[in-house]
Amino acid sequence: MNTTGVIENLKKTLAEEYTLQTKTQNYHWNIEGPLFYSLHKLFEAQYGEISEYVDSTAETLRALNTRAPGSFTEFKTLSSIQEAPADKQSAGQMIEALTSDHTKLAAAFKERLEEAEENQVTNAVTLYEDLITFHEKAAWMIRSHRS
Ligand SMILES: [Fe+2]
Repeated sequence: MNTTGVIENLKKTLAEEYTLQTKTQNYHWNIEGPLFYSLHKLFEAQYGEISEYVDSTAETLRALNTRAPGSFTEFKTLSSIQEAPADKQSAGQMIEALTSDHTKLAAAFKERLEEAEENQVTNAVTLYEDLITFHEKAAWMIRSHRS
């Protein structure tokens, strides 16, 4: 049993969830066009859910006796998820960016789940199972807005 890799990946997970939370909230604020109401509401629900996972991920790290990263500088270094660009994006660009992010995270977390299972880090196993379900559902709900 070796928890080092699991812990390093949990730190990445925290940074990725935090980045995706901010990006989703950015889109909740800046969405325009005919899909405004639907996506404004959906993004609000999703950044709220992501915020709960951010907290659970940080507390999973603390339970493993590890410090949780908690600054934009660290998150930016650790995250594989890109922030939303500062310039205006269309609803279509937002849909494609978030569908891709949620799909990418679900796939990455399947590998991290296996690693957590192999090393018997039970709290990380539960976290990743919940995260995979969430991201797969989120990707579906967002991509269903494609016209
Ligand atoms: Fe709001």
